[in-house]
Amino acid sequence: MRTQVGIIGAGPAGLMLSHLLHLQGIESVVIESRTREEIESTIRAGVLEQGTMDLLHEVGLGRRMAAEGTLHHGFELAFNGTRHRIDLKDLTGHAISVYAQHEVIKDLVAARVAADAKIVFGVVETSLHNVDTETPSIRYQKDGEEHSVECDFVIGCDGSQGVSRQAIPENARKDYQRLYPFGWFGILVEAPPSSDELIYARHERGFALISTRSSTVQRMYFQCDPKDSVDNWSDDRIWHEMHARVDQSDGWKLTEGRIFQKNIVGMRSFVSSVMQHGRLFLAGDAAHIVPPTGAKGMNLAINDVRILADGLEQFYREGKEDFLTTYSETALKRIWRAEHFSWWMTSMLHQFQDASPFQQQMQLSELSYVTASRAAATALAENYVGKAATH
Ligand code: PHB
Repeated sequence: MRTQVGIIGAGPAGLMLSHLLHLQGIESVVIESRTREEIESTIRAGVLEQGTMDLLHEVGLGRRMAAEGTLHHGFELAFNGTRHRIDLKDLTGHAISVYAQHEVIKDLVAARVAADAKIVFGVVETSLHNVDTETPSIRYQKDGEEHSVECDFVIGCDGSQGVSRQAIPENARKDYQRLYPFGWFGILVEAPPSSDELIYARHERGFALISTRSSTVQRMYFQCDPKDSVDNWSDDRIWHEMHARVDQSDGWKLTEGRIFQKNIVGMRSFVSSVMQHGRLFLAGDAAHIVPPTGAKGMNLAINDVRILADGLEQFYREGKEDFLTTYSETALKRIWRAEHFSWWMTSMLHQFQDASPFQQQMQLSELSYVTASRAAATALAENYVGKAATH
């Protein structure tokens, strides 16, 4: 099979890229190891920055998000038993939307399928070939048969465990990594929202987050041992822990409900630099990971492919490669800003086992500063909505 752009991975990056290229009249093929049902039901985070929302509207995919997502003009930071509001709209002029990643995926898949796009699900043994020539290709197996996609460019959107990054020789890239000694225990709960806005809580027992999915389904997390098992956590034990971490001295209490999903995610920061090798480009989690505290993962993926789509459009329309040549450099500015912000939020809000009483006071003083000073709150808010300046 022959196409212009071969895309590995049908996550937000791969599908959005394929959609953006289609709008420019550029052909692509997407291959994916999971099934359509799996990608449409895998639970991930759900915060869309203003820029991500704007793009979804621009490319004709904003209807369900506007109807079913919720617009948030602020969020709360809770510590020492008190909640403090960060007014995103007032501080930055922008807002965020809470709309689950797998809902974005459903919208993207529906749009691609409606345009007769080629998305091949359930592939195995994917490999990349000749990426340092002008005729790269992707090989894979499906239902026991060998297939090959011959293309002009290969775009690796296959996540941190995918094969694409490994196709860049080790001596041509540099990996930066930071592991955190904790994870997040996530639950989905059948209940009305406990709060109109997200609450990020710092507590001596560990971090907790109150988020939402709809008027009847809530998403909550609490810091846990990344090696713990969901089987060790009865519903009663979870509620006891959540109440201990988030209930406030003003009498505000979390609303309980039926827990219908539990999972544990590890936390790390990771950047692979560079994000290009010959005709291979990496986008999204294939090139970088952030801990979920800053809610940046999907937004970064979408930002990468927006830059790539411009570069590919310039290549096919004008025969020029200057946008593509500077892709890594352009994308990495935004990525490093988000890496720093996610690391900062994580460091400020979580309990580190070996933290000294001095470090605990540093955390509290920082939280007190970002909630008391308009200048400091603005720094946090502009990063959160995705409008922080970089050079
Ligand atoms: C979520 O709703 O899943 C969520 C919200 C905010 C975060 C991370 C995850 O920072």
